[in-house]
Amino acid sequence: MVLGNAKMLESQGRKIIHLEIGEPDFVTPANIREAAIRALMEGETHYTPTPGMLELRKAIAEKTMQDFGVEVRFEDVSVTLGSKEAVFAALAAIVEEGDEVLYPNPGYPAYESGIRFFGGKPVPVRLREEEEFRMIPDRVNELVSNKTKAIIINSPENPTGSVLSKDDVKGIVEIAKDIGAYVISDEIYRYIIYDGLKHYSPIQFDENLENTVVIDGFSKYYAMTGWRLGYIITPKHLTEAVQLVLNLITACPSSFVQIGGIEALKNGMDAVREMVRQYSIRREVVIEEVSKIEDVHMVRPKGAFYAFINVSKITQKAGIDSFKLASILLEKYGVAVLHGTAMGSFGEGYIRISYANSVENIREGLRIIDKAFKELKKG
Ligand SMILES: Cc1ncc(COP(=O)(O)O)c(C=O)c1O
Repeated sequence: MVLGNAKMLESQGRKIIHLEIGEPDFVTPANIREAAIRALMEGETHYTPTPGMLELRKAIAEKTMQDFGVEVRFEDVSVTLGSKEAVFAALAAIVEEGDEVLYPNPGYPAYESGIRFFGGKPVPVRLREEEEFRMIPDRVNELVSNKTKAIIINSPENPTGSVLSKDDVKGIVEIAKDIGAYVISDEIYRYIIYDGLKHYSPIQFDENLENTVVIDGFSKYYAMTGWRLGYIITPKHLTEAVQLVLNLITACPSSFVQIGGIEALKNGMDAVREMVRQYSIRREVVIEEVSKIEDVHMVRPKGAFYAFINVSKITQKAGIDSFKLASILLEKYGVAVLHGTAMGSFGEGYIRISYANSVENIREGLRIIDKAFKELKKG
């Protein structure tokens, strides 16, 4: 919606600085684009099996082994149209009427609406600034019940940039195992991580792969949002249900897109490292500029490319909520940001900015925000 409004203002000739968009500003690395073009020219224009090409599923299983030291059967890897379809398929296969599903709030909005869509009860786990927005096992423990069917985790997290520690992930897996629930782990920002931190997946703590569903995708770290390519790794007993859902809704992802995915997995890491280096420079710029703005603060983001800025003093002084604040920033000042409540009810008092943007735009956008806040406080 913010993007739509921003585009409308642009069509009327206004200059807008886009700090709201949740996607890389980089174009997909050339070798990946070339692989897909080659595939098209060689006639890769047909359906593939529903869960994807064998070579791609095997490459995903191999990468999982390399990164996590965990052996997954390629049969349990299903390729999807972006990780969004993987979230949908996971919830479709798992959630039944009345099931409770825990999810991070603030968090990616498809979790809450997806749980509701399948008749489940969304149970928000409030991510707290004083806990660095991590979903810590103690908080999860307070909220589970005998109706809990699944716990969704997302690390690095959208919108807060929080990263779960090894103990967090391990603790959540233990809770899930105790109550016979699934952990659905959305890992689509997993390589975009800073300060020497390491990403942990619940798959590393679930010995017989019974409780963990891993969701991942090519959109963010390979800069492939428009390709629509992701995947899901399921425990053996869930695979058939997930693949039935995928078969019903999309049959399979585009064949030449999947070939681009194989190239990304085999020869994409240098480009990923370079993009993460660029995000890291931009993150420093955000931290520096936000520290200069009076009456706002934020937790240093540790992963992804978002900063979740606490603007509650500004909204209080101006007598408005974060939605109104974001509207004013866009309409009066030409800077598009996301109001915190776009990411769940516990996002009130925050705005999210994306630093998948040039250093110049980030600086200019944040300086305009500084000016806007000064004016808003004066009334
Ligand atoms: C946490 C999270 N999960 C999933 C997605 C969906 O990404 P895609 O469907 O492009 O893989 C997004 C996109 O913003 C996201 O932030």
